[in-house]
Amino acid sequence: MVELAIIKPNNIFFFFFFFFLFTYAVKAHIATNFEGALTRRLLLQQKEEVGAGGPCQATNPIDSCWRCQANWEMNRKSYAKCALGFGRKTRGGENGRIYVVTDPSDSDMVNPKNGTLRYGVIQNEPLWIIFAHDMTIRLNQELIMTSNKTIDGRGANVHIANGAGITIQFVHDIIITNLHIHDIKATKGGDIRDSVDHHGQRTSSDGDGINIFGSTNIWIDHMSMSNCKDGLIDAVMGSTAITISNNYFSSHDHVMLLGANDTYADDEKMQVTVAFNHFGPGLVQRMPRVRWGFAHVVNNDYTHWEMYAIGGSTHPTILSQGNRFVASDSSAFKQVTHRDYATEDVWKNWDWRSEGDLMENGAFFVQSGSPLKKESFSSEDMISPKPATSVPELTRFAGALNCTVGKPC
Ligand SMILES: *[C@@H]1O[C@H](CO)[C@@H](O)[C@H](O)[C@H]1NC(C)=O
Ligand SMILES: *[C@@H]1O[C@H](CO)[C@@H](O)[C@H](O)[C@H]1NC(C)=O
Ligand SMILES: *[C@@H]1O[C@H](CO)[C@@H](O)[C@H](O)[C@H]1NC(C)=O
Ligand SMILES: *[C@@H]1O[C@H](CO)[C@@H](O)[C@H](O)[C@H]1NC(C)=O
Repeated sequence: MVELAIIKPNNIFFFFFFFFLFTYAVKAHIATNFEGALTRRLLLQQKEEVGAGGPCQATNPIDSCWRCQANWEMNRKSYAKCALGFGRKTRGGENGRIYVVTDPSDSDMVNPKNGTLRYGVIQNEPLWIIFAHDMTIRLNQELIMTSNKTIDGRGANVHIANGAGITIQFVHDIIITNLHIHDIKATKGGDIRDSVDHHGQRTSSDGDGINIFGSTNIWIDHMSMSNCKDGLIDAVMGSTAITISNNYFSSHDHVMLLGANDTYADDEKMQVTVAFNHFGPGLVQRMPRVRWGFAHVVNNDYTHWEMYAIGGSTHPTILSQGNRFVASDSSAFKQVTHRDYATEDVWKNWDWRSEGDLMENGAFFVQSGSPLKKESFSSEDMISPKPATSVPELTRFAGALNCTVGKPC
């Protein structure tokens, strides 16, 4: 401010001329160095790839943050910096120790055994939870997580199946990645420990794969999810700052519910990024279904829905950018969008916008409201869309990956 004030009007032109020249030179210098570093890294990668017996397969900006590094296993926590979108500040267990799950059992809900997943998620300290080997965990009751935890299934083939699901309630900073969650059942409830300091009576659970309740800073990446009793992922009651990315969803009715209560106005603050997911065979509806809040739905591949893909009620805001929507052959399910509990003279004011989406096999998106003002979003919160034609490539590796230690993943 002070420096600008002392420049006389006739000098301003020169000031800006040199200022821009200087800025340009610095940028060019950075760019050259950056490209140099990039080339060196690419060469290095290619070398590693030969060892790995295949090309490095990161196809989107979240994956290219880590997948090509052969030493990802030595460097697990750096993955916490790879989130983009509204959940990008999620740190999970970045500042904690590594906790290794060695025991797939889940028998004692009040005093879980050291070595089980349940023992890890109730600890007070931040933890980065990994798995010693392939395993299937059948949860007896909801797995109730405390803050500052990562559940990282990379390097093992981990299934959470045929029992209860994961509950993220009144906590923050949770990363869940590279698990298979399927065939989750409703459970009766009972006495369950939810932290080292507390256990208490829980009522029955609905059978969600992952239930996010009153929680913030959540990143769910590279999960394979199917066939749960209720939702695959639900985020409700004031949850926000969430990114749901690189997941493969299949064989399920109610896929993703963002906001469950039409009178709970606190959900107005909800901001969720849904990016690079593949909504695959056997899905029916809610990809997602939104109330009150804002969903940025960007570069996803929708290859199946039976009722609708994106829906909502209570004036949610939806920005759909660079997605591919492939309608089924049935003439009844061509529409991408669906509005509940409102007549057109009401919903015509809801801001539901489609930008650069690719519509195939007769798919169509019914827009409403007005184009969103770009200046009302921070560019850091918004993943900038790639062309929808590249979506099959961007989502090619959606779902749990089969990573091998010592090789790019
Ligand atoms: C839990 O098990 C680990 C690994 O065997 C051990 O290092 C740790 O001390 C145990 N913790 C407790 C509280 O027993
Ligand atoms: C979680 O970690 C952050 C710092 O990373 C810390 O400020 C906070 O107190 C931790 N919260 C809990 C509940 O451990
Ligand atoms: C829905 O939200 C309202 C308003 O906050 C609350 O009174 C009501 O209990 C909520 N309903 C459910 C089922 O949670
Ligand atoms: C994962 O990769 C390993 C090594 O390439 C292979 O032996 C294994 O069968 C794969 N597992 C799955 C579930 O694809």
